[in-house]
Amino acid sequence: MKILAIETSCDETSASVVEKKDNSIEVLSNITLSSLPIHAKTGGIIPENAAREQVKFIIPVICEALLSSKEIKNKKDKKQILTLSNKILQEEIDAIAVTCGPGLIGSLLVGVETAKTLSFIFNKPIIPVNHLLAHLYANFIDIDQSNLSLRSRSANWRRERNNLDGIATSFDKLRTRNDKLDAGRYPLGAPSFPFIGLIASGGHTDLLYFKSHTNFKWLGGTRDDAAGEAMDKIARIIGLGYPGGPEIEKRAKFGKPDERFVFKSPMIGSDDFDFSFSGLKTQVMRAIQKHLRGGAPTGDDSSNGGIDENSINNICFLVQKAIVDVLIKKTIRAAKLYNVSTIVLGGGVSANETLRRQLSQKTKDKRLKTKIFFPEKKFCTDNAAMVGAYALLAGNSTSWKKIKAQPELYFD
Ligand code: KG4
Ligand code: ZN
Repeated sequence: MKILAIETSCDETSASVVEKKDNSIEVLSNITLSSLPIHAKTGGIIPENAAREQVKFIIPVICEALLSSKEIKNKKDKKQILTLSNKILQEEIDAIAVTCGPGLIGSLLVGVETAKTLSFIFNKPIIPVNHLLAHLYANFIDIDQSNLSLRSRSANWRRERNNLDGIATSFDKLRTRNDKLDAGRYPLGAPSFPFIGLIASGGHTDLLYFKSHTNFKWLGGTRDDAAGEAMDKIARIIGLGYPGGPEIEKRAKFGKPDERFVFKSPMIGSDDFDFSFSGLKTQVMRAIQKHLRGGAPTGDDSSNGGIDENSINNICFLVQKAIVDVLIKKTIRAAKLYNVSTIVLGGGVSANETLRRQLSQKTKDKRLKTKIFFPEKKFCTDNAAMVGAYALLAGNSTSWKKIKAQPELYFD
C-alpha cells in the first residue's frame, strides 16, 4: 500500500510518499519546506506568517514529493509537473494521510483542506493522523531504505526551488543538518510492543505506555511549557537564535558546571509522570540578574546584554542537563513500573545527542536490558514521512467529509 502523507501542523510544509512492503515502511520521498528563516527574525513562530507560507507552497511540495517518489527529476514546466503529479496520484497512491492536530489552526487547515480536496477529486480514502503519535512512528521507518537516495532528491528540489523565486524560505533543514546514520538505532529494526513512548517537542512533552498500535495509555505530560519550548525561550533570553534546542545543544558542548548557575530539574522528585519547564526559564533569568547584571533589571530579554561566551556556554550546559535529567528519570521510571524493555523517543528534542546517549547509558548502568529507539535525526523534527508511517501501521481511513482540523487534539 502506498500513501501520500501531508504534514502542516506548525511551520513546516511537508509531503511524503510512503509505502508498506511486508513489514517494512519505506519512504519513497519526503519533501520538507521550512519557513524557519522568517521565524528566526521574529524569535518565534507567528502563526499567520507560517500559514501564509504554507498556502504558497503546499501544492509545489506535494507535486515534488509525488515526482520524487518515481525518481522524476528536473521538471521545469509547471503544466508538465501537474500532469505527471495527477497521473501518479491517480494511478499509484492508495490513500492520503494528513495531520489533523494538534497544531496551529491556520497551518493545520492548509494541510487538511488540501488533503480533503485531493481525496474528493481523486476519490481516495483519507487517513487522519495525530501529530504527536506520528512523532513516535518515525521509529518504524525503515532506515536502510530512507537514507542515501533522499539526499540526492532533496538537493535537486533545493536547486529548482531556488530558481523559482528569491523568497527567504529554507529547504530541507532536516536533511542538510544531519544525514548520517544513527548507529544506535540502525541494528534494532522496528520497536516491538509493549513500549514506553516519550514525545518531546516544541509544543508537547508526554509519556505514554503502548500495548499495541491502538491500545495505549497516557501516563503524564508537561503542566506548562514543553521541553523544546523551554529551550527556545531560554535561548532567546541569552541571545541565541531560533529554534533554541539545537543552539543550546551546540553551546552545551563547550560548557561545564558553574556554581553561579545551579538550575534545578523541575519536578524531578515528584511521584508522577508529569513535567514542568516554565520555572527553568525563571531560574535562568534570576541567575543572570544576580550574577551578571548586578541585580539590576534590564527589561530586555531579547539580547544577551553582553553576557560573556563562557557564561552562555555554561548556562546552556546546565539548562540542557536540567531538562535531559528529568526526561530520562521519568522515562526510566515508567519503563520499570510497566515492566517494559523498549523505550521509544520522538519529537524535535529527541534529536538531542546528550538525551540519546545518556538515556542509553543510564539504562545500561541500571542493568536494564532496555532497547532504546530514537528516530533518524531527519525524522525527529516535523516531517510528513512519520505521518505516512503512522497511517500505514495504525491509521483508519474514512471519508473526506468526516475530517477536520483539530488544534487541540490530544490522545483520545
Ligand atoms: O517536533 P518539532 O519539530 O515540532 C513540534 O512538534 O513542536 O520540535 C521542535 C522543537 C523545538 O523546540 C526545537 O528547539 C527542539 O525541537 N529541538 C531540539 C533539538 N532539535 C530541535 N531540542 C534539543 N536538542 C536538539 N538537537
Ligand atoms: Zn512536531
